[in-house]
Amino acid sequence: MAIPESFLDELRARLPLGAVVGRRVQLRRVGRDLKGLCPFHAEKTPSFHVREDKGFYHCFGCGAHGDAIRFVMNTENLGFIDAVEKLAAEAGLTVPKPTPEAAAAAERHTSLAGVAELAARHFSEALWRREGAAALAYLRGRGLTDETIRRFGLGWSGEGRGAIAQALKGEGVTGDDLVAVGLLKQDDASRPPVDLFFNRVMFPIHDRRGRVIGFGGRIMGDGQPKYLNGPETALFSKRRTLYGLHHARAAVASGAEVIAVEGYMDVIALAQAGFGGAVAPLGTALTEDHLAELWRLSPAPVLCFDGDAAGSRAALRTAELALPRVAVGRTLKLASLPAGDDPDTLVRRGPEVFRATLAAARGLADALFDAACSTRATTPEGRAGQRRKLEDLAAEVTDATLREEYRRHWRERWFGEGKPQRTGQKGRPNGQRGQPAAATRAPRPALVPARAGAVRERDVLALILSHPSLLPEAEEALASLAFRSAACERLRAALVAEAETAFGLDSAGLIDHLDQMDLREPLDAVLGTRLSALPACTLPGAAPAEAREAFFQALGQLDPERLEAEVAEARARLAAEFTEANERRLIALVQAMDAASGAERDDPHAASSRAANT
Ligand code: UTP
Ligand code: MN
Repeated sequence: MAIPESFLDELRARLPLGAVVGRRVQLRRVGRDLKGLCPFHAEKTPSFHVREDKGFYHCFGCGAHGDAIRFVMNTENLGFIDAVEKLAAEAGLTVPKPTPEAAAAAERHTSLAGVAELAARHFSEALWRREGAAALAYLRGRGLTDETIRRFGLGWSGEGRGAIAQALKGEGVTGDDLVAVGLLKQDDASRPPVDLFFNRVMFPIHDRRGRVIGFGGRIMGDGQPKYLNGPETALFSKRRTLYGLHHARAAVASGAEVIAVEGYMDVIALAQAGFGGAVAPLGTALTEDHLAELWRLSPAPVLCFDGDAAGSRAALRTAELALPRVAVGRTLKLASLPAGDDPDTLVRRGPEVFRATLAAARGLADALFDAACSTRATTPEGRAGQRRKLEDLAAEVTDATLREEYRRHWRERWFGEGKPQRTGQKGRPNGQRGQPAAATRAPRPALVPARAGAVRERDVLALILSHPSLLPEAEEALASLAFRSAACERLRAALVAEAETAFGLDSAGLIDHLDQMDLREPLDAVLGTRLSALPACTLPGAAPAEAREAFFQALGQLDPERLEAEVAEARARLAAEFTEANERRLIALVQAMDAASGAERDDPHAASSRAANT
């Protein structure tokens, strides 16, 4: 009995793999993967990876591999159908019954897809014939290359009514077929159906696998309506479909950022400019289903809506829709475009212009804060109203830890930025209920003198050698510092150079790997003293979170002056040239510096005490 592929897709979308696996295996996020102890073989160090965006798991230890359905089959010893039924019940879906009607519907579906495909081919061929010359000129005039036009399958509808029915008659396509795929409409049963699209440039709409499921059409030049989107059909659901998704999926697999835009032309122009991860809804606001689809591709897709009032309203609505659904590893970013621009016009000023806009995208929390408090109220009532709004927003977050972090982030921003700029003596009343106006926020602790540097260098390296899982996060910071001790410097350089190769290695594996690179001597220098002289947190048995904290602490204390100088320099470089690499470098350095004063961040009263202090 066959379960339609579309149903299985829906099922996988509803139940993210991390959630399914997470019930049996304790998972921890490492880079873009979740990682835990493999349930299929006995192990002490986790080598079981869940790649949520791709929807599969893989164990580097025993080679177990599969998707959510396979996971349930193998952990619960169920057959395929039973596993699907179990997951479907959890997702609140009903597995389609293999009735004759369903079989007929499936067949019909296939034949409708065939009709849509034929029509798309017809429109595209027409574009490249004489009759399509004006449409082709229009598209080229909008900056599209012929390659892009072909890649997106753009076409020409024909001039008057009746063209598509006439053209496909020879293929056995009936008027009813064309109504069913949304190309003709029948308003009045007593009259033959008429064309929806004529005198328009045609945009075929594809499903996530690249099959044509519907059409949109744009008038050339001015005229109303500018775009027509085909109606909902058995193939095409606007609520679920994202324009450009099939191309975006491929681009994201090779590293493209996921970008949600408003229009067809935005998707196409961005793809042509090298931003292949762009998708758009089809004349509707982004829905819950769209968000789920975006999150299957990326933990933090960027909303990049038009730089006008409607665009920012739409972005804000989407942000509020997303809020109850955010989780660790599932959020949104919001880019602001200059007024009057959309992604299409912006990227035409140069990919670097658009890249800078993307890089400057705000996190969801900051975007919502900015919207709620765009002009800071000055009366107590006004201020209370704004704080209430933030409180209500925070309450929307379902994940308890994350909810607390939202509250805290907003509290810090609220009090941090509400502070009077002048050094007046007034002092703001303590904002937190019942909390004492504590002393000044602790200054950064005095950093250890530079002569302690050599010891710190060893700590830093020992930490990485004991906890290779820190490497992805530490790489950037490590890469931007030179060590003084020659032995430590050799090891540091090797770790940076081998970071990619070392991915997934455990401590012994990493040491072994470096050993084979002729680094025995520096390894001995670092590890030789470990048991006696190094802090406990550098040992392999230390908790990962503790090790991470210790790593950034040690890094920050390595050479504080130098670190500060580096931060200043990185800041200047970023101001001069807004590139992603420069931004990453600055973030990494600031992170290291912050961590040197890490204690203050763990002070739950930090926000309020800072507010009390002027
Ligand atoms: P826009 O007007 O922002 O589209 O509408 P655009 O892509 O920037 O258009 P041009 O070609 O550059 O002028 C965004 C989306 O809203 C839907 C379409 O899906 C469009 O891509 N829309 C817009 C309609 O459905 N009907 C309309 O009349 C206009
Ligand atoms: Mn536009």
